Amino acid sequence: MKGIILAGGLGTRLNPLTAITNKHLLPVYDKPMIYYPLQTLVNAGIEDIMIVCGGNNAGDFLRLLGNGSEFGLKHLNYAYQHGQGGIAEAVGLAHHFAGGDKVVIMLGDNIIENNIRKAVQEFDKQDSGSMILLKEVQNPREYGIAELDGDVIKEIVEKPENPKTNFAVIGIYMYDNRVFEIVKTLKPSARGELEITDVNNAYIKMGQMRYEFLDGYWADAGESVDALLETNNFVKKFGANKLD
Ligand code: DAU
Repeated sequence: MKGIILAGGLGTRLNPLTAITNKHLLPVYDKPMIYYPLQTLVNAGIEDIMIVCGGNNAGDFLRLLGNGSEFGLKHLNYAYQHGQGGIAEAVGLAHHFAGGDKVVIMLGDNIIENNIRKAVQEFDKQDSGSMILLKEVQNPREYGIAELDGDVIKEIVEKPENPKTNFAVIGIYMYDNRVFEIVKTLKPSARGELEITDVNNAYIKMGQMRYEFLDGYWADAGESVDALLETNNFVKKFGANKLD
């Protein structure tokens, strides 16, 4: 199983904080934001990781993270995304790296409190298909929102005007290798991006999507300046990426 962290895009929602640096290099309490998703994947037992970066500061990721020795890694892989063609476009850039393997993908601005190792191990046992993690939220218009029917996800709607539930799809996605073929079939959305929600709906249509609810805190730290502040305060008080 390979790990992919998506840290492309321009992060314009946080301007002027992101005018001269990349969103994922901004501080979250005592570490740069990108440290958190990297630690999440390492704690889940994933050692072969690629970071997809972009923008004007891509070289800073290499200077900061090097070969990942601070995280106990022997090696880190990097890819570069021009512009911000969407999360699913960034996924496509990791095709060569993934080879024929399954992948765990994490958004570079998502921060969690607990360990996802058990969910990753469960997914590892699956022959094929995909798994996503859900979290109940107060502001469902800001996220991909899942409509459930018992154990089955009926549909995911990206940033719905009239959300049917409060169950946000968090930025950790586990896919079999078909994800790269699905990405190739996508068309840009109204906001001009290849949407990860379209990838998820393709798996739902095939009847190949499982979900679990995430335990503990989850933050989309890059969602707004207020979300960034709230995440800083949470991490200072309670920490992140607990081992068990
Ligand atoms: O955080 C969870 C949410 O993330 C999901 O609920 C949504 O379904 C999903 O679309 C996404 O929504 P956001 O609007 O928060 O995505 P954002 O544009 O902030 O991008 C999130 C991360 O993805 C960002 O930190 C870097 C990476 N990214 C994004 C874009 C647009 C890329 O690597 N390349 C890109 O082109």
